[in-house]
Amino acid sequence: MQERNGPMSLALATSLLAVALLLGPVSPLVSHAAWRPNVPLGLDLYMPVPEDNPLTTEKVELGRKLFSDPILSRNKSLACAGCHDPERAFTDGRPVSQGVLGRKGTRHVPTLVNRGYGISFFWDGRIPTLEEQVLQPIQSAEEMDLTVEEAVSRLKRKRGYRKQFQKAFQREIMGEDLARALASYVRTILSGNSPFDRYLYGDREALSEEERAGLRLFRGKGNCTACHLGPTFTDEGFHNTGIAWRDGELLDPGRFEVTGKKKDQGAFKTPTLREIAQTAPYMHDGSLATLEEVIEFYNRGGNPNPYLDPELRALHLMAEEKKSLLAFLRSLSGTIQEGMPRERLEND
Ligand code: HEC
Ligand code: HEC
Repeated sequence: MQERNGPMSLALATSLLAVALLLGPVSPLVSHAAWRPNVPLGLDLYMPVPEDNPLTTEKVELGRKLFSDPILSRNKSLACAGCHDPERAFTDGRPVSQGVLGRKGTRHVPTLVNRGYGISFFWDGRIPTLEEQVLQPIQSAEEMDLTVEEAVSRLKRKRGYRKQFQKAFQREIMGEDLARALASYVRTILSGNSPFDRYLYGDREALSEEERAGLRLFRGKGNCTACHLGPTFTDEGFHNTGIAWRDGELLDPGRFEVTGKKKDQGAFKTPTLREIAQTAPYMHDGSLATLEEVIEFYNRGGNPNPYLDPELRALHLMAEEKKSLLAFLRSLSGTIQEGMPRERLEND
């Protein structure tokens, strides 16, 4: 992880703020104007947004409404938010997901914070863009189990949606725009401004002594930053920690299904660690119930298997060290923002 120079960034932030204040009153905050979210402290100021789907107030508000509307599921019982609950940092608290009619999935619901920075989606990274990703759960038999066609015709029967889609896209409702609206909303779900971020940006008091010791372990002896690095605490890469391997047996092929490469058997995408205290249970199969169990898992060097990532090895942490590492992980909870920033809503 890169340590940033506190005073420099503060100076930069101040000058950006000054520019924003100067431009504020004269910039045309009209409808359909593309904008970028005000990212919370700690995240990259630049968040990639596809050129053909710029963020607009109308799309984000529409996506936000769709996200919590069960109309997108077969029996109208389950919304995106039913599994990605904003109150639980956009997870559901279950080991594996539960779709319509109680149908069980095979994987744990991941948090959606900061996924706008993602370069591939799902635990195995099989989908390259958010626009493609967001239609998958609607169609999946284990999740919402509805065709995009049926979703569109249901939405067309609602006057409110007809109006909102018209305003956002200036045309009749279609699947592509449903995807664009949902993806736009997901891009606004951001977590930053945690005690860890405030510490990194110069507030030396923001982390306790124990948490600072945990940070040193995270970067040093624990070797966690080999994979959990950068502002979102992930290399966006795929690694075999052995979670999918039980007694020499592979329970989920993971990345192997996408690449067909032997070494990817049981490899999964490195998940973010932001808001980690809120997203139990852990791992792609929800098999570790607590952060204490996760730390024990890494302490013994993961689960042995033929393709275990070379960055994992027994850590021999002492009880005190495990406690500090835990305290540090808990300091990664900050402010979660989603949807339109209030100032923009008031100005629009
Ligand atoms: C039944 C529960 C369930 C519902 C409903 C659901 N999801 Fe998910 N979501 C999951 C699971 C499980 C995964 C991980 C699946 C995998 O990796 O194979 C996931 C993954 C994702 C991801 C990828 C995150 C990442 O880090 O790669 C995004 C984005 C997402 N969902 C958005 C949505 C949206 C938008 C909706 C509504 C249209 C939705 N989900 C509805 C369970 C659900
Ligand atoms: C070799 C890369 C690598 C290293 C090193 C590594 N991790 Fe991970 N981490 C991963 C991957 C990949 C997963 C998901 C594994 C799975 O579900 O199969 C993960 C999952 C996690 C999770 C659960 C996240 C969730 O949302 O379920 C936590 C917490 C975590 N790691 C913390 C740590 C800590 C603390 C360290 C250092 C002691 C560490 N990791 C070292 C790659 C790594």
